[in-house]
Amino acid sequence: MCGIIAYAGPRSAVNLLIDGLHRLEYRGYDSAGLAVQGSRGELQVEKRVGRVIELERAIGPEIKGTTGIAHTRWATHGGVTRENCHPHLDSLQRIAVVHNGIIENMGPLKARLLSEGVRFRSETDTEVIVHLIAHFYDGMGALGDSVSPDVAGDPVVALRSALARLRGTWGLAVLFADHPGVVFAARNGSPLVVGLGDGETFLASDPHALTPHTRRVVFLQDGELARIDSAGVQTFRIDGVTSKHKVDTLAEEWGDSELGEFPHYMLKEIHDQPEALRQCLGGRLVPEDGTARLGGLDLGPRELVKLPHVALMGCGTAYHACLVGAGAIEALARIPARAEIASEHRNRNPVIDPEALYFAVSQSGETADTHGAVKEVQVKGGQVMGVVNVVGSSIARACGRGVYIHSGPEMAVASTKAFSNMVAALLLFALQLGRARAMSPHAGKELALALQDVPNRVARYLAQPGPIEEMVRAVVGAKMVLFLGRGGSAAVAAEGALKLMEVAYIPCVAYPSGEMKHGPIALLEKGSPVVVIAPDDELKDKTLSNLQECRARGARVLLIHTEGDLEAAALADVAIAVPRCHPLLSPLLTVLPLQLLAYRAGLALGRDIDRPRNLAKSVTVE
Ligand code: M6R
Repeated sequence: MCGIIAYAGPRSAVNLLIDGLHRLEYRGYDSAGLAVQGSRGELQVEKRVGRVIELERAIGPEIKGTTGIAHTRWATHGGVTRENCHPHLDSLQRIAVVHNGIIENMGPLKARLLSEGVRFRSETDTEVIVHLIAHFYDGMGALGDSVSPDVAGDPVVALRSALARLRGTWGLAVLFADHPGVVFAARNGSPLVVGLGDGETFLASDPHALTPHTRRVVFLQDGELARIDSAGVQTFRIDGVTSKHKVDTLAEEWGDSELGEFPHYMLKEIHDQPEALRQCLGGRLVPEDGTARLGGLDLGPRELVKLPHVALMGCGTAYHACLVGAGAIEALARIPARAEIASEHRNRNPVIDPEALYFAVSQSGETADTHGAVKEVQVKGGQVMGVVNVVGSSIARACGRGVYIHSGPEMAVASTKAFSNMVAALLLFALQLGRARAMSPHAGKELALALQDVPNRVARYLAQPGPIEEMVRAVVGAKMVLFLGRGGSAAVAAEGALKLMEVAYIPCVAYPSGEMKHGPIALLEKGSPVVVIAPDDELKDKTLSNLQECRARGARVLLIHTEGDLEAAALADVAIAVPRCHPLLSPLLTVLPLQLLAYRAGLALGRDIDRPRNLAKSVTVE
C-alpha cells in the first residue's frame, strides 16, 4: 500500500529518496512521485504512473537538493493517473504533501474550498489537505474560521489547523518552500517512523526503508506532529504542546530482504520456511516438561487456567492461521476458541469478555482492520496480545504484549512463511495452555518433540516437492478451482485458494469438505479441478468420501496426502505426498505444495509474482 520516505540532511536527496522508494516497492503501489527543495527552497516535483524505475528515469539533472519527500501511491480516491500521483501542491506551489491514509470528510471540505475559488488538479483526498494547509498558512481563516494573521506563515500552526478539520487516517510528510531544510510530518492511524542519522534525519512509513541508514528511530504516535531537520526531530501534540518522544533501536532481524539466488521473493520465502520455523520455535519449546513458554505473553499457569475462552483476529492469510490456531487451542486446552475476520469483528459491536484472551494476528502489524479490532477490544476492556512479525509495528505496540513470530522480512505480497510461523506460534500457545489445563505430560512431550522436528520435515518436502507441474497444468486453464479440506485442512484449503487467486488470478472457491454437497458441488463438471487436502488424520476418511463424490461428477482430483498413504493416492488424478507428522501440525506441511502450486501457476500465466495487480503488502486502509 502507499509508502512514504523523506530526507533532511547534507546529502543529495534524490538518490536517497529513490532508494527508499525501491525499498517500499514490496508493499504494492501503482505510481510514484517526489518533491525536492531546490537551492532557494523552491519545490521541484516529478511523478510517474508505474514503477519507481520509471520515476527514476524521468528525473532530470535539474532536480537537486538535500531535502525532499517521496511517495508510492496505491489508488484509493481517483484513478491511476499522473495527476493523482503524490506529491500534491497548493495553488501557489509553496507547499507539497504526500499522504498515506484516507480522508473521510473530503466531500464537504472540497466543496467549501471550491466555493472559495480553489482549483483542484486531481481527484484525490490528499489535494484537499494541501489546500487546507495553504489557507491556514496564509492566515486566511479558511472555511469560515478566523485565524489570527500573526500566525500566518507558521507551518506548525497551519498544519495543526488543517488537521483539526480532517476526519480519517493520515501519515503525512510536508515541505514548505519558505522553510528550506525542514520536513513536517503528522500521524493519525497510518504509521510514520523517524530515522535519526548522524547529521541527517529520515522519515518513512515503514522502518524497512530506514535500515540501510540507521536503526535509531522514533515511532510517531497517533495525533502527533513532527518537525524534522538534519539535526533531528521535534514532536508536538495537535494542540501545539511539545511532546516527549522515545528513541528506540530497531533490532537486527534474521534473514535477508535480498533475493539472492531466487528469481522471486515468493519462492525465496517458501524456501525460507524451515529456517523461519526454527527461529520461531527456538528457545520456546521445553520438551523435557512437554510444554512451551512464550515469555512475551507474560502469563503463568495460574492465569492461563482461568481463561474462559480465546478469540483470534486477523485478515487474509493471518485469518487462516487463526482458524488453525483456534482448532489447536480447543483440541489441546478444551476451552472454546474462535477465529474471526478482523474487519468483521471491529465493525459488529462485538461482545468482549474482559476475562478472555484476544489475539491480533498480523505479519505486517499495520493492517488497519486488525488494528481497528485491537482498539475495539481494548475500548471494551478486553486483553489483546499480538502475534506479529514486524517488530515495533503499530499492532505490536498497541498490544504491548504478545509473540513475535520471527519470520524475517517477508517481501512478496503473497504471504507464505508468515503463515507457517503464525501457525507455529499459535501451536506453541495451544501447547502451553493445554499443559496448564488437562493435557498430560506424555501428550505434551509428544507434541513438543513433533514441533521441534517440523522444520526438518518442511525442508525434506521442499527438497522433493512432487508433481507440482502436473497440478499446474490442471489449473491454469480452469474456469474455477475448488479447494476442500476438513478441520485444520479446511483452513489450509482456504489458504491454498487465496494464494492461487492472488498470484495466478484464477477464480477459486474453498469449502470445508462437508459443506460441498450443500452448494458448491453444483459447480463441478467433467474435468473441473478439485484440490483436496486429506492428511492421514481422524477426518481423512470423511474427506475421501467427498473426494469420491467429486470423482463421480467427472472432476479432476488433485490430492495432498500423507506420504505412504497409497490408498488415498490411488483415488487422485494427481497426488502429492507430504511427510507424516503429528495431526495438529499437518497444516505446516500440507500448505507447502499449495504455495508452490500458486507460484508455478502464476509463473506459467506470466503474472507479476511478487506484486500481483491491485494488491498491497500491508493494507493500511479500512
Ligand atoms: O500483514 P497482515 O498479516 O495483517 O496482512 C493480512 C492480509 O492482508 C494478508 O495476509 C493478505 O491476505 C496476503 N496478501 C495473503 O497472501
